[in-house]
Amino acid sequence: MDIDFWLERWNNNQTGFHQQSINPYLVYFYGDKGPPVEQRDKLRVFVPLCGKSKDMLWLSQNGYRVFAVECSERAVKDFFEENALNYKFAVKDQHALYQSSELASQIEIFQGDFFEIQPHDMDTVSDIFDRASLVALPEEMRQSYVNKMAELQRSGTRTLLVTLTYDPAEMKGPPFSVTEEAVHELYHENFSVQKLLSKQVINEESGLKNRGLTSLVETVYKLVRK
Ligand SMILES: C[S@@+](CC[C@H](N)C(=O)[O-])C[C@H]1O[C@@H](n2cnc3c(N)ncnc32)[C@H](O)[C@@H]1O
Repeated sequence: MDIDFWLERWNNNQTGFHQQSINPYLVYFYGDKGPPVEQRDKLRVFVPLCGKSKDMLWLSQNGYRVFAVECSERAVKDFFEENALNYKFAVKDQHALYQSSELASQIEIFQGDFFEIQPHDMDTVSDIFDRASLVALPEEMRQSYVNKMAELQRSGTRTLLVTLTYDPAEMKGPPFSVTEEAVHELYHENFSVQKLLSKQVINEESGLKNRGLTSLVETVYKLVRK
């Protein structure tokens, strides 16, 4: 599943993965239950394969700095424009970087290929929010994604990872089904893996139900880079 596949989806408005609401797990673990408000400006949250997710706006409004990556220029511009945010465009190390210009907690989006990010871009990243990112990739790309994640993170970096599990015979991804066994297999070498919760969500996902799914389990993990 290459970048052209996703650029075409953005161009054809096939963006059913985009949510108008803020992800409830992000709000739960990074809101009142999360780091104290006065410490949040020291935290920089990386959002891989970010699309135009409103979760980035929520993070910024709640005091976190945001660094994100998205291959689609259209998605990045839509994010700033639909949320009425002014932005600056810069070229850094030959890559396109969009930066909010007025928010107290800055949002920076690298527009390009996730696999081109370098560890120095992630210097001050403390946390990662992975929703619809790992599960967006087919099985054959997962290990490269996780290896790149491990290369990019310093020890102690925390990830909130949201996965989906369903019977692959019922639907062709994306999103792809990722089992608990697969998460442990992919991450255990370089990360501690803690399952936080699991929830049956098929009745909240009418789009995926219409594609044939009879069960869809969302699982949330906390990963910490060793
Ligand atoms: C399923 S969407 C999820 C978007 C976002 N995480 C959300 O919750 O709405 C996956 C996104 O990853 C982007 N993407 C896919 N491969 C990428 C890559 N190699 N580098 C950067 N972005 C990529 C796609 O354009 C798409 O916007």
